[in-house]
Amino acid sequence: RLDDDPSRPSYHVTPPANWLNDPNGLIHWNGRYHLFYQYNPAGPFHNTIHWGHAVSDDLVHWEDRPVALTPSPDGPDRDGCWSGCAVDNAGVPTVLYTGGRDKRQLPCIATAADDDLTAWDKDPDNPIIEELPAEPEVLRTEDWEGEFRDHCVWRENETWHQLIGAGIEGGGGAALLYESADLRNWEYQGPILAGDRDTAGTVWECPELLDFGDRQLLHISNYEDVVYFLGTYEDGEFDVDRRDKLDHGDFYAPQSMWTDDGRILTWGWLPEARDVSGQWDAGWSGAMSLPRELSLADDGGLCQRPAPELTELRGDNTSYDVVRLDAGDTEQLPVESRSFELRATVRLEDAEAVELSVLESPDGEERTPIRYSYESEIAVDRSASSTDPQATGDTQTMRVRPYDAPLSLRVFVDGSVVEVFANERHCLTSRVYPTREDATGISLSAEDGHATIASLDVWELDSVW
Ligand code: FRU
Repeated sequence: RLDDDPSRPSYHVTPPANWLNDPNGLIHWNGRYHLFYQYNPAGPFHNTIHWGHAVSDDLVHWEDRPVALTPSPDGPDRDGCWSGCAVDNAGVPTVLYTGGRDKRQLPCIATAADDDLTAWDKDPDNPIIEELPAEPEVLRTEDWEGEFRDHCVWRENETWHQLIGAGIEGGGGAALLYESADLRNWEYQGPILAGDRDTAGTVWECPELLDFGDRQLLHISNYEDVVYFLGTYEDGEFDVDRRDKLDHGDFYAPQSMWTDDGRILTWGWLPEARDVSGQWDAGWSGAMSLPRELSLADDGGLCQRPAPELTELRGDNTSYDVVRLDAGDTEQLPVESRSFELRATVRLEDAEAVELSVLESPDGEERTPIRYSYESEIAVDRSASSTDPQATGDTQTMRVRPYDAPLSLRVFVDGSVVEVFANERHCLTSRVYPTREDATGISLSAEDGHATIASLDVWELDSVW
């Protein structure tokens, strides 16, 4: 594994080297957690995609496994084995994924050839869906004879159901529903939801439907954001009452795993925020988010919290009962780290804002402030994160609610990843690339008034490899 690069995350899943995008085929199988991912073993760029594979016994420590799916030179997946999911078909782990060939996107199926899920047999009858649905008409572009890919499959009442992401000619993105008795012969049912192009993008990638019992959630990735729709889904109809972004930063194409103990854990691809030459120089590109546990709050809204297993990683701890900040004060924490978790409760009192600055050099030349303001906004300001011109410098923001209650904050910093969880509801993930070896400081300050930070903890986190 490439590991001498300070920007390389040490406790987020990354490929041994080269390119990673979407999480795929997530399955808790035989007591082990399997994470497959879009992988180009040939370099840190998106081309001829394979399925990489990592496995864990505890959701925290990971082991690299050999490449699981490779494009077949004569197959419908010749140009790439794109995103897909895994299901347990009466004891046979089975994956459905999109094969790319020429200008076509072709649904394919493969079954596990061993219990470690290291080898897969592709079905000789691939592709399993050859025709695009007639109604509504699927979007054609210069590059594709149909924007029609990615798979979410579940079983209900003895029937398999499948969503495929698509774009609609003259419309926006859509999640198209299919049904099957055997995972191989699929009957088209129609869209369960279709977006309008101005607000939800022209193509929906990686649709996923999650069942929370009396409520359901559909999320889609629309080239920019991961948008979720929450409401009730029944018999092909989605009645949406809430909509938001799953994450407000560098987070894309997530997928979830149902664990044996009935939890929903979600991983997303954290794309780089530096230009391609920076990725080429580094020799690697892309990381997985931490696993997030998704659940519903009493008010029917979505909760997202880091999987509780991650506390296993906690090492050296620095702890304060309370830190009182007066206007203009800066409190430097006695920690120097690029791999840590910070947990705090922030009360603005009469301050305009509180700023938590991470990855900060002693002279402040490089620093990444996470600013929480009384307008109920959290902003990650990347303008001074890096002196490297290859790195993005824009600010990312999200709204949090309510502003008059204390904010519970958990921040995970790991090499070039900053993952912010606010009130166990709202997430903002940023990629930043400090160049200075001493950009490892953490400080707190208040603006125009005083603020209280209660139960502040910083834990240094170990590597998971
Ligand atoms: C999303 C995506 C999917 C596709 C895959 C290809 O990032 O574009 O739609 O299956 O990546 O790598």
